[in-house]
Amino acid sequence: MDSVLNVGIVGTGIFARDSHLPAYQQLPNEFKVVAAFNRTKSKAEAFAEDAGIEKEKVFDNLDDMLKDESISAIDALLPAQFNAETVEKCIAARKPVILEKPIAATMAQARKIVEMSDATTLPIGIAENWLFMNAASALKEQLAEIGPITAFTYNSTGPFVKENKYLSTSWRQNPEHIGGFLSDGGVHQLALLTEVLGEVESVSALTKQVRKQSGTDDVVFSTVKLRDSDVIGTFTYGSAFGSCKKSVYFKVYGLNGAATLDLSDKKKPVIKVTVGDSAEANAKENTIEIDEHPSGGIQEEFLNFRESILKKEKRVIRGSPRVAFHHLACVAAFLDSSAKDGDSVVVEQP
Ligand SMILES: NC(=O)c1ccc[n+]([C@@H]2O[C@H](COP(=O)([O-])OP(=O)(O)OC[C@H]3O[C@@H](n4cnc5c(N)ncnc54)[C@H](OP(=O)(O)O)[C@@H]3O)[C@@H](O)[C@H]2O)c1
Repeated sequence: MDSVLNVGIVGTGIFARDSHLPAYQQLPNEFKVVAAFNRTKSKAEAFAEDAGIEKEKVFDNLDDMLKDESISAIDALLPAQFNAETVEKCIAARKPVILEKPIAATMAQARKIVEMSDATTLPIGIAENWLFMNAASALKEQLAEIGPITAFTYNSTGPFVKENKYLSTSWRQNPEHIGGFLSDGGVHQLALLTEVLGEVESVSALTKQVRKQSGTDDVVFSTVKLRDSDVIGTFTYGSAFGSCKKSVYFKVYGLNGAATLDLSDKKKPVIKVTVGDSAEANAKENTIEIDEHPSGGIQEEFLNFRESILKKEKRVIRGSPRVAFHHLACVAAFLDSSAKDGDSVVVEQP
């Protein structure tokens, strides 16, 4: 296989146009966007013009696109309820596929994707770009200094944005994906949290719907316990509040200090670390300014997907269906716990 990966795009909506296409175009030695399919064909045609795709490579349906032998991989950016059938078709056509997050709309569909992925040698990836953020690896590097880790607090909150271009999409306003915005944006936060500290075992949560435009519950306040460890913490997420400063911080407490990642400005994350076993240590705060990937990890997830295809090794993929299953399973557990007035709920495993 040529080392330039010929990509076919499925779903030429906002994110395909604004983020995926520019990310590919900035990596011309690694990727070429060669084909497109979209439910509304005129949008695929406009996308093709921007992407320099030949007219005959704008397809009327996914089945025809998958028959095209010049396409080496599929990148699907669809509402999550279409991911499982897209994976099924790609596997049948022997095309590796990367799908946008969340992995699926329901846990049953997510499980089906994990099973299909387990049963094939083809690389199947979920585009969880936050797994690739430098902020995650930089915070992880600090843990040995402050450990053993005892607890954490993860808080991502912000004001409701009425003019949000994503909010205006009808599939977000009438979500079929569990948790609506809680899974749409929440899986990013859960990817970062679990990439740094490991998987969540159980949660006790309250969720609620603050904005009718969200279509379903849009904020979660929870306490959590990590799997195979005695680390406890809190996870709070919501962008449905009134005027307030958007803030994203992740503070990890150890027996020998603490590290706080401030991700409020995603392009300029900052970590503050104090090392010492008690107040008496009089530790000085060390500030680490992180040089974040300009694409927020999108190019890195594409390169990781390409590497797995070139090496014919699906295990290279970091955003595997199993990894992404966990993020959606946490959202499902928050909702389940809230429905039981905050009872502790074990997070489902694939
Ligand atoms: N990683 C991130 O940070 C990030 C950010 C934003 C979005 N995303 C993900 O990217 C994907 C696309 O989101 P978007 O914001 O670009 O939304 P969008 O503009 O609404 O695009 C959705 C695409 O799916 C197609 N679609 C919708 N309903 C369909 C149906 N019933 N059958 C077939 N196709 C259908 C739309 O086709 P039409 O043109 O015909 O409507 C459109 O091409 C989603 O999975 C989202 O979660 C990820």
